[in-house]
Amino acid sequence: MKTKKQNADFLHIGEKILKWYENNSRELPWRKTKNPYKIWICEIILQQTQVKQGLEHYQNFIKRFPNAESLSRAETDDVLLYWKGLGYYSRALNLHKASRQITDDFRGKFPRKYEDVLKLKGVGKYTAAAICSICFDEKLPAIDGNFYRVLSRIFADDFDISQSSAFQYFSESALKIMPEKQPGNFNQAMMDLGSQICKPKNPDCGNCPINKDCIAFETGTPTRFPVKIKKTKPTDLFLQYYFVICGKKFLVRQRKDDFIWKKLYEFPTEIPEKFRENIIASKTLKHKLTHKNLTIQIDKVEINSSAEFEKFTREHGFSALTFEESHRKSFPKPLENFLKICF
Ligand code: ADE
Repeated sequence: MKTKKQNADFLHIGEKILKWYENNSRELPWRKTKNPYKIWICEIILQQTQVKQGLEHYQNFIKRFPNAESLSRAETDDVLLYWKGLGYYSRALNLHKASRQITDDFRGKFPRKYEDVLKLKGVGKYTAAAICSICFDEKLPAIDGNFYRVLSRIFADDFDISQSSAFQYFSESALKIMPEKQPGNFNQAMMDLGSQICKPKNPDCGNCPINKDCIAFETGTPTRFPVKIKKTKPTDLFLQYYFVICGKKFLVRQRKDDFIWKKLYEFPTEIPEKFRENIIASKTLKHKLTHKNLTIQIDKVEINSSAEFEKFTREHGFSALTFEESHRKSFPKPLENFLKICF
């Protein structure tokens, strides 16, 4: 157990980081608000998306769904549409479900307590800490990848961040440097320091406000941290699709299973034997998911008889869309890319 006295030895590091943030923070729309609904949306978007790419989506999403109530009333397809282009659509489905938890379990008011925020679907410890520190001034470190990197370098700490205990371990370590005041600003300062200065490959140590306090800098080893030992090797997966067209229309169906891409639209995965001779072109795409390397073959099948096309559509529960109509539906990223080039 560290005593208060020992902790105080490192607090000046956090103070310097806060001071640096006062002069260097990025102007971002969510930094002008403490509305927990908006901070929640922003944090979920930024989990797997860069700030630059997420900005416009954040603004459009908030405009269309300004509060939990409006989000809870929306159709799933509409929520997915506002997520189009961001990928990892389960985030949007979870936001939708959680907005219903807010209206049903919290009487429409965004929960204030960390333990309650954690109950929201899709909200983990990082997101709950970010929301509670930014909106409710709770002294909780929001440990994301940037935070791990900055902290492990400051202390040249080789604790393996792929261990399940890493969050708890680094939360305790973070409290050594985290000031009492402005916890939300401190967390966002760590994010900015990590993304702008203390970068994974080429850290800009010369411009770092705490380079004199950083053991990794002092020992010339910043890029050795953080240590991450367990790397789950992605597995290969082959997917077959048929891009079945008749005139200006092509066939799609909404995915139901949880495996990947739940509720997104996709092309038929099988066709009757008699249509095989209608295959006029093939394309093979490669796409990486977090734990899967996908190889996707898309065979283009042209059906000349609209009666045959409609029969196939009806009997297998597909929908026939034009290219323009498909803009209102959300497709997995590789199929979305394919649609941009196939017409
Ligand atoms: N990445 C995750 N959350 C962020 C925030 N609040 N500001 C900037 N980048 C972030």
